[in-house]
Amino acid sequence: MKRTKVVDALRSTDFGKDITVKGWVRTHRSSKVVDFIALNDGSTIKNIQIVADPAKFDAEILKSITTGACISVMGVLVESQGGEQAVEVQCKDIEVYGLCPGDYPMQKKGQSFEYMRQYAHLRLRTNTFGAVMRIRHNMAIAIHKYFHEHGFYYFHTPLITASDAEGAGEMFQVTTLDLDRVAKTGEVVYDRDFFGKRTSLTVSGQLEGELGATALGAIYTFGPTFRAENSNTPRHLAEFWMIEPEVAFIDKDDLMDLEEDFIKYCVRWALDNCKDDLEFLNKMIDKTLLQTLESVVSKDFVRLPYTEGINILQEAARNGRQFEFPLTGWGMDLSSEHERFLVEEHFKRPVIMTDYPREIKAFYMKKNPDGRTMQGTDVLFPRIGEIIGGSVREENGEKLIAEIRARGMEESTYSWYLDTRKYGSCPHGGFGLGFERLILFITGMQNIRDVIPFPRTPKNAEF
Ligand code: 4AD
Ligand code: MG
Repeated sequence: MKRTKVVDALRSTDFGKDITVKGWVRTHRSSKVVDFIALNDGSTIKNIQIVADPAKFDAEILKSITTGACISVMGVLVESQGGEQAVEVQCKDIEVYGLCPGDYPMQKKGQSFEYMRQYAHLRLRTNTFGAVMRIRHNMAIAIHKYFHEHGFYYFHTPLITASDAEGAGEMFQVTTLDLDRVAKTGEVVYDRDFFGKRTSLTVSGQLEGELGATALGAIYTFGPTFRAENSNTPRHLAEFWMIEPEVAFIDKDDLMDLEEDFIKYCVRWALDNCKDDLEFLNKMIDKTLLQTLESVVSKDFVRLPYTEGINILQEAARNGRQFEFPLTGWGMDLSSEHERFLVEEHFKRPVIMTDYPREIKAFYMKKNPDGRTMQGTDVLFPRIGEIIGGSVREENGEKLIAEIRARGMEESTYSWYLDTRKYGSCPHGGFGLGFERLILFITGMQNIRDVIPFPRTPKNAEF
């Protein structure tokens, strides 16, 4: 018999009909007169209840159906007697696909996320990770839908590159050279390497994205990016997914409008399309989750120049607010603690911070006439801190080259990028949204390692 997904069975009103459901056992309760099995197949956070009369089944088989086992059940769909669920299946036949021995690591409820991380290959079968992964999928769909509907082209940028898009030197090298031999000879000959030059995994698709935008008008990327920064925080991954729209003929205000509209669309999408999973997370992970999501979509974001932000922080410090990371004044890079103070305590809404000091931002940002600041437009969110990093780009070729030289960067590796400024340069800008930071925000999860199936972090590349 054709399998019915649990999500469809739970919605069905075809009472009295036989159906077959397949999945993994969440719980099995037995008594002398009846067995209840809660079955989940990943199609929904909800389980379907299987009711079996122990007199009709081999006692050994029933006993073998423990938490985690995989079974196929054929039976009659009926309206449930119990109050908790609308429907249940009165079992006629059970086939056991896979037994699950007692040492199943996901057996107990309420295990810590840290514990579960060691079993990232099995944690997907828990309620929480099922919910997170379904939401992750839904957000990817929402993002493509938004850009498609707004006339952006999905543009594929390379993962292997010879240039550092952020100029921060946090790249993983890509090579087919035998490192042991290199160590023996003491010499690296990049001419002999696979690409004939030194190459790395990309930290961002932006530079190639700019090539796309200055030809197609508006593009976005959505792919993995890699950063060899030794940051062991709940918000950093060495491999994460980034969405990078880039638009021609856009100014700072247009860019901020786009950031705000886009991220609100994503949050609204989650509220509209991930209701069951969000309600589960609201109950189990963060009791303020739904309220926080609603509040983000309903309020205007604050638009705050960096200089004013520093003044607010210093004022707070003067009034006795303690910060773990010291406030060293204008020119400092804000830590997520400072960003969260502005968002969560001071304004109580998301903040788009603009016009950062030149020294703390990437080389490609458009310089303001004051000579000290650049047209960055980062979005700061409650619980997350920086969720989007964006800017208007320096379209003046001479200024851009001067900036590259001033930073001691290898000018020759950017020649193709600089050509956009040489031939028909135009005002343009864009931003990068960290996909996992968005998922962190939307799920209420605390650690970025728990919103990607198989996290990569310093000293960890398991699975
Ligand atoms: O601020 P970032 O470094 O900006 C860029 O890469 C630009 N090229 C984007 C652009 O303008 N096209 O990174 C953008 C976003 C951050 O705001 C953050 O959400 C996320 O990417 N991000 C990380 N997420 C997880 N782990 C990391 N190590 C991250 N580094 C940045
Ligand atoms: Mg940034």
